[in-house]
Amino acid sequence: MRKKVIAGNWKMNMLPDAAIRFIDELIPLVKNTENEVVLCVPYTDLFYSLLAAQNTNIKIGAQNMHWEENGAYTGEVSGRMLKSIGVEYVIIGHSERRQYFAETDETVNKKIKSAFKYGLKPIVCVGETLAQREEGKAIEIVTNQIEKALEGLTENQAENTIIAYEPIWAIGTGKTATKEDANEMTKAIREKISYLYGQMVANRVIIQYGGSVKSSNAKELFSMSDIDGGLVGGASLDATEFAKIVNYEN
Ligand code: 13P
Repeated sequence: MRKKVIAGNWKMNMLPDAAIRFIDELIPLVKNTENEVVLCVPYTDLFYSLLAAQNTNIKIGAQNMHWEENGAYTGEVSGRMLKSIGVEYVIIGHSERRQYFAETDETVNKKIKSAFKYGLKPIVCVGETLAQREEGKAIEIVTNQIEKALEGLTENQAENTIIAYEPIWAIGTGKTATKEDANEMTKAIREKISYLYGQMVANRVIIQYGGSVKSSNAKELFSMSDIDGGLVGGASLDATEFAKIVNYEN
């Protein structure tokens, strides 16, 4: 049985005092879950969030990283730096980074390899635009992103890569993919991984859905055969709402 991983992506929101209050509020609400709870916070919140979440079941992640260990890369933060303060997860290749910050399949691949080098768990985002879906190319586009993202990884690394399928048209729009469409894509991703790394690896890979996930639709999405939790944007900014998503079975 694959574990469900419910990750919040705060994007560019939350000052440290709000982050600490959020985590204090969240701790008792999610302490009994068997699902993995992750909060991916802005760099400036990382240290405060790690302290606030210490000795709890809440894991802290970053939203991006550079693939080099250090050097003349003004404004960047490396995987080694993240690991040095206790960060466990890192989102890689979010569509907003691909769209606004020139992230490519190649940089995504380099970042995933670097994340593993420094002991971080990557949450790798893939997804199609509305135009690509309407042209009937969604599966081809997304499975191609998967192939390029995972290129050169060992079986063990591939197995430990979390994939977040986030259709771009569903992000922040209130439009959620139907559970059938979301499951069809997560299944296609799993089949691609099986083709690349074998069925055993494919069966173990965690594949999340992201895009307007909220407490009212989490259960129907996360109950599908190939959806192993979610990457949650807007609805992760409210502790009560996020806790309901984490505890979606109840
Ligand atoms: P929303 O949940 O706000 O649609 O954002 C999804 C997302 O981009 C998570 O990474």
